[in-house]
Amino acid sequence: MPWIIGTLCFFSLLLQSILPLTSEAADPQVLKQRVPQDQIAEAQAWVNPFPSTPENIEKGKKLFHGKAFCVTCHGRDGKGLGKIPGLVGKLPRNFTDKDWQAARTDGELLWILKNGSPGTAMAPFIPLVLSEEEAWHVLLYVRAFGKS
Ligand code: HEC
Repeated sequence: MPWIIGTLCFFSLLLQSILPLTSEAADPQVLKQRVPQDQIAEAQAWVNPFPSTPENIEKGKKLFHGKAFCVTCHGRDGKGLGKIPGLVGKLPRNFTDKDWQAARTDGELLWILKNGSPGTAMAPFIPLVLSEEEAWHVLLYVRAFGKS
């Protein structure tokens, strides 16, 4: 029954061509806006006052790996840690995903650091863990993941 083998080959080829796409292309759920509609215009108007210099990125990196403990969920490589048992709701972001990077303004990311992402393990960090100034530096580091 060569047609069965032919069909199997066809589907395995099809799978191989689809799987890399689904693992690399951004999940539409991930790209969906996180800031509520009634606050997004205001959030998008916030601009990072700090330039993306190697010194400022380094400052953000220290906070990301240090006192702000972002690394525990987002990983050393910024790709998130995959499925974390017990982690409520969504998985941590893959910061190297260029589609996700392009889908967000800096202001929207600061909003997340102020408010958290409601319904997920992403908690607010400003003002308890980070000052707003420190948060902007961490975001320069988050942006740097998208440039490598
Ligand atoms: C307890 C685990 C945890 C920690 C610690 C954590 N995050 Fe998150 N983070 C998440 C999860 C889960 C999401 C995905 C939330 C969602 O889908 O909306 C997320 C999402 C994000 C997003 C993306 C939101 C968006 O608009 O798509 C940013 C930016 C972010 N985190 C930055 C940080 C930074 C910076 C720190 C450290 C100050 C940090 N996170 C610490 C779990 C964590």
